[in-house]
Amino acid sequence: MIIRENKIYTKNLVPGSNVYGERLIKIDGIEYREWDPYRSKLAAAILKGLKNFKFKNNSSVLYLGASTGTTISHISDICYEAEIYAVEISKRSMLQLVELAKVRKNIIPILADANHPMDYQDIGKIDILYQDIAQPNQIEIFDKNVNMFKPTYAYLCLKTQSIDVSVSPSKILERELLKIPYRPIEIIDLNPYDKHHYFLVFHFYQ
Ligand SMILES: C[S@@+](CC[C@H](N)C(=O)[O-])C[C@H]1O[C@@H](n2cnc3c(N)ncnc32)[C@H](O)[C@@H]1O
Repeated sequence: MIIRENKIYTKNLVPGSNVYGERLIKIDGIEYREWDPYRSKLAAAILKGLKNFKFKNNSSVLYLGASTGTTISHISDICYEAEIYAVEISKRSMLQLVELAKVRKNIIPILADANHPMDYQDIGKIDILYQDIAQPNQIEIFDKNVNMFKPTYAYLCLKTQSIDVSVSPSKILERELLKIPYRPIEIIDLNPYDKHHYFLVFHFYQ
């Protein structure tokens, strides 16, 4: 991954093809894909100064709320020697994800409800858990998956509006954090890239 003039690029694992209309550029003869911070919260967090970016070439990732694979495609560029398990509940999104996985062999699509990690427990040990699910019980889903898979690092995109629109985002964050027994090592407000979203990083010391 490289950052140039406030734009992020990942080295394209499948040269010549893009995933969501992103720009392809060549630097020193190598093709890179531009990573859109308005389409990907991980890119937004990086541009907002994320200190704990722990995705490496051999990091295995469990990604909850994969959708059609916008962010996952960049993680697949970065973690090119490991597997990325992509859990998604929507059959329609899954169809596109399956197509993506045909060309990006390190993406393993899983049609499942992240409320039930037992349904995909066979994936075994993972290094990183990443969750981007806009549901009222997103912190409960996160906690269940942390306990089941015991990642070293976990990233949570917390959409406060999905939890309560009548309370301020910072109050919701405070209230939600009381529901889990561990504390984030980093909290990033994704504004202006994404409104009402916090990006939280956890380290579980393994
Ligand atoms: C905001 S989108 C994710 C966007 C994606 N992370 C990206 O950056 O490319 C949230 C996704 O979570 C999925 N979702 C919602 N509830 C879910 C659940 N219980 N289990 C798995 N996926 C879920 C939705 O279908 C939707 O595709």
